Amino acid sequence: MDKFLIKGPSKVRGKVSIPGSKNASLPILAATLLFDKEVIVKNLPRVKDLEVMISLLKSLGSKITLSKDKKTAKIINPKKMKTFANYSIVKKMRGSFLVLGPLVAKHKNSKCSLPGGCNLGARPVNYHLEALKKLGMSYTLKDGYILAKSKGKLKGAVITFPKVSVGATENLIIAACLAKSKTTLHRCAIEPEIKDLTNFLNSAGAKIKWSGRTCIIEGVNSLKQTEYSIMSDRIMAGTFCIAACINQGDLEIENINSKIINTELNLLRRVGARIRCIENKIYIKGPKKIKSIKNIKTKEYPGVATDLQSQLMVLMCKAHGKSNITENIFENRFMHVAELRRLGAKINIQKNTAIIQGVKKLVAAPLMSSDLRASISLVLAGMSAEGESRVDRIYHLDRGAENFEKQLKKIGVNIKRVK
Ligand code: UD1
Repeated sequence: MDKFLIKGPSKVRGKVSIPGSKNASLPILAATLLFDKEVIVKNLPRVKDLEVMISLLKSLGSKITLSKDKKTAKIINPKKMKTFANYSIVKKMRGSFLVLGPLVAKHKNSKCSLPGGCNLGARPVNYHLEALKKLGMSYTLKDGYILAKSKGKLKGAVITFPKVSVGATENLIIAACLAKSKTTLHRCAIEPEIKDLTNFLNSAGAKIKWSGRTCIIEGVNSLKQTEYSIMSDRIMAGTFCIAACINQGDLEIENINSKIINTELNLLRRVGARIRCIENKIYIKGPKKIKSIKNIKTKEYPGVATDLQSQLMVLMCKAHGKSNITENIFENRFMHVAELRRLGAKINIQKNTAIIQGVKKLVAAPLMSSDLRASISLVLAGMSAEGESRVDRIYHLDRGAENFEKQLKKIGVNIKRVK
C-alpha cells in the first residue's frame, strides 16, 4: 500500500492549477446513461473514483474512449444496455448509486446494488428511493440489491426532499429529464456541482430551471449530442488556500472561480489571510499569526463545506487561542482527530463539535488515513509538523485528489510516495 513521507514544516510558495471536479464529474458521467447520441466530457480529473465510474458505465454497455491524458471521454451508448450495477463496483464508491435514476428513466428497470455505509456514517439512500418512487419507480430489496422498475416512462411529480441531499437531488434531476411532463423538486441541494450537472443536461436540450432551492424539470423525449467541460474542483482549491494559510505560504491558484468558495475564503480572511481574486485566479498569503475562529459550522452550500472541515481543523490547530468546528452534515466525520492528536494537537470532541486549542507547533508522527478528505488533512498536518511524518493508506486520497503530491512538490513541499 502506498504511503507518503512528508518532511515538515514546509512553506508553500508558487502556482497551482485546479483540476476538474470529481464531485461534478460523477453525476455528469452517470447522466450520460440517458443519451443515445455521442457525448464528450472534458476536464475530467484523473482520480480513482472516476476510473470506478467509467468501469461501471462500461459494464453497463457504454463505449467509452479516453483521450491520451485521460481528461476527455467520448461516450456512446448502444440501444440496448445492461441495467445491472454490480455490488463489486458499487461497494467501491457510493457515487455509483447515481446510475439508478438514469437506468430506470431510460431503460425502465435496474438491479442496482445498495452502497452500504462508509467511514462517515450510515449514509443511507432512502431519500433517493422515496423520491424516485414518487416519479413512478417501484422497487423491492433482494440480496442487497434494489430491484427497480417503472411501467412505461417515469411521470413528473412535485417532491419535497425531507432534508437537503446532494446525491438525492442529482439522482432525481437526472431521472426527471426524460419523465413525462413536469417535475418540481423542493428543498434541493444547490452545490455548484449540481448546477454544473444541470448546465450539462441543458446543453443537451434538457429543460431545467432553478429558483432558489427549487428545481423545475420539464421532461423531454431525448437528449441531443453535446460536448461539455466539467467545472474546477472547489474543494481542492479550498484545500490549497488552507495550505497557504498554515505556514505563511504564498500561492497563486489558477483555474478557479473564487465565487464558489467565497464562504471559505471569508473564513480565511478572518484567520488573517490576505486574499485577492482576479478573474479565474486566487492570490493568497498566509498570516504571521493565525487567528482562532469560534463557531465554524459545516452546512449545505452556500455554507462551509463539510469536505473542507478536516483541512480547516488542521489550520485551527495552529491558531492562537481556542476555536470550534461543528460538523452538521455527517455523523462520524472526526476520524482525523485522533490522528491530529498524535502530532500534539489539542482537540476535544463534544457531540458533533470539536474544540481546538491552538498549539505553537505540531511534531511529526506516523498517521493513518480514514477517508478522502481526512487523508488530505493529514498531509496538510504533516506539512505543518516538525520532522518526518508518514501518512498511511493514501489510497483514500487517490480516490479524489489528482496529482496531489506532484502539485505539492511544485510549491515546495518535501513529500515522497513510497510503497
Ligand atoms: C456528496 C459528496 C460528498 C459531500 C456531501 C455533502 C459526491 C460524490 N459526494 O455526498 O463529497 O461530503 O455531498 O456535501 O458528490 N442522507 C440520508 N438519506 C439519503 C441521502 C442522504 O439520510 O438518502 C444523509 C447523509 O447520510 C448525510 C446527509 O444526508 O448525513 C447529506 O448527504 P448527501 O448530501 O446526500 O451526501 P452525498 O451525496 O452522499
